Amino acid sequence: MCGIIGVTGSADALDILLDGLERLEYRGYDSAGVVLIDDEGISRVRIADGTHSVATLRKVTPEADHGQPAGIGHTRWATHGHPSERNAHPHLDCSGHVALVHNGIIENHAEIAAELVAAGHTLASDTDTEVLAHLIEDALKTGLSLTEAVRRVLRDVRGAFALGVVSMDDPELIVAARRVSPLIIGALGGQSFLASDIPALLERTRDLMVLDDDQIAELRPGSIVVTTIDGVVVTPPPLHVTWDVEAAQMGGFDDFMTKEIHEQPQAIADTLRGRVDADGRIVLDQLDLSDDDLRAITQVSVVACGSSFHAGLVAKYAFERWMRLPVEVDIASEFRYRDPVLHENALVVGVSQSGETVDTLQAMRKARESGAKVIVVSNVVDSSMAREAHGVLYTHAGPEVGVAATKTVVAQIVALELLGLRIAQVRGTLSADEIATELAALGSMGAIVAEAIARDDAVARVAAELADAREFFFLGRGTGYPTALEGALKLKEISYLHAEGYPGGELKHGPLAVIEPGCVVVAVATGGPLKEKMLSNVAEVKSRGATVVLVVDDGDALAAASGDYVLRVPAAPVLMAPIKDVVPLQQFAYHLARARGLDVDRPRNLAKTVTVE
Ligand code: M6R
Repeated sequence: MCGIIGVTGSADALDILLDGLERLEYRGYDSAGVVLIDDEGISRVRIADGTHSVATLRKVTPEADHGQPAGIGHTRWATHGHPSERNAHPHLDCSGHVALVHNGIIENHAEIAAELVAAGHTLASDTDTEVLAHLIEDALKTGLSLTEAVRRVLRDVRGAFALGVVSMDDPELIVAARRVSPLIIGALGGQSFLASDIPALLERTRDLMVLDDDQIAELRPGSIVVTTIDGVVVTPPPLHVTWDVEAAQMGGFDDFMTKEIHEQPQAIADTLRGRVDADGRIVLDQLDLSDDDLRAITQVSVVACGSSFHAGLVAKYAFERWMRLPVEVDIASEFRYRDPVLHENALVVGVSQSGETVDTLQAMRKARESGAKVIVVSNVVDSSMAREAHGVLYTHAGPEVGVAATKTVVAQIVALELLGLRIAQVRGTLSADEIATELAALGSMGAIVAEAIARDDAVARVAAELADAREFFFLGRGTGYPTALEGALKLKEISYLHAEGYPGGELKHGPLAVIEPGCVVVAVATGGPLKEKMLSNVAEVKSRGATVVLVVDDGDALAAASGDYVLRVPAAPVLMAPIKDVVPLQQFAYHLARARGLDVDRPRNLAKTVTVE
């Protein structure tokens, strides 16, 4: 997830770009850059300075500012290519006449890059984006206008994009285009603007338009023409923004946690994007493990902390079913101080949103020293873990600001399941048809999660009824068990209420003694072979006086009848069920925390990234 901005027709173009980039930093800050353009030429400044990228850019750009009235800017969340100045946007074509900024992923960039290099182009970065500048360069050489050149190129690329493109041939013009990634445009007085999100433009205009998929906008000073990819002129519906800037930074949501819960379908789609080729082969290109390496694996060990550990536990069920290999999942702080037995052909998978959690990092180092192949599932490009592991599998959830992990957890489960299917594909433990079925199921999870999120009101009503409760147990069986652990962690973390997660079958081995009237038991009883057994456990706690909240699949009246309160979710295959069953549990924790007047984004005593033991 990156942020883009553009302006034409302004005496303050540079200030508008820099102010906008500051407002877009929540979308990533691995690097930042601007291009300013007029009849004299293109001036480009790029900085890769981590969290300070935009601030440093502001310090150094005055030298490049000669009052140019137009420009484009970018703040980067690295996906393809390290966070570095070389990979920072804007990117140029070979001649330096075309510059562009991009948010999204160009899925077929590798094949396009190979063709461009063979045709004599020189690529100056490791990004997926740069190919677009060179494709536009070639299209312009055929005599097309910039708009037509962009239109032609967009027909040939796959993936997601929001683009701003400028060219020396027509320096007042910015061409904007969108597919999947968000893009808004607006014009006021003699100026026209584009940006990834509303906060970037709110100080300039409150009257905006949202570009739709496959629409292209021509921005000239004070005027905008929008066409479809086929060249038909259209008028996007106007949007008048009434929020203030602070609210707008959270996209109109009350807090980052709510925003990030709502971003889960996008996180799932972005994590899946470009990872299956036309032949149905799963492509995890930064894994750096050959098919022979994957065939040689004899055991899998997952190491992680907190919510990432829960994602690893979900993966265990899928890995064992699909790969038919022994799988262990360890809390990293335990693994690193044990003497774990790792065979020569062990695969150790670190799972970490930040890629910096010290216990997971040390556990991975220990595994590496013992000769195992070590990979990491990380949301942050070029994190310490990504640098130290043999290979990386990135989740593409975008930056997560709320301390409570939400969208990154579902993205981790999706990424781990892709890994499991890849290994099963190479080892032949699943047939091509079975792989295709599982991939289709994974592909449908975004829509299912969106449906679950839309039921927030129902969850809020249940939370309001239980606002005075102080003791919570979360129960689940099979993949419902890690879901229960995650539900309990979310509740503890942001509401400061006591919550325990347990496998349903363990109750009678001790915890049942604690159950009494006043206790709330949240039971995950969605589909799967263990549902009836789960409902027996529910009967056990009910008979001891607990109040029961059941998470059940749509249409399961029988299960629903066992609960005092019911949270319904759409059904999904059992190995993927946690991806959607976790949603009402996130919302339940959220509403209980809000009812207690707590800051859900910054819970006490906790930090987003834990780099101390
Ligand atoms: O960055 P990591 O995924 O390695 O972080 C691990 C845990 O600290 C993290 O998941 C933590 O448990 C979350 N705050 C839970 O919401």
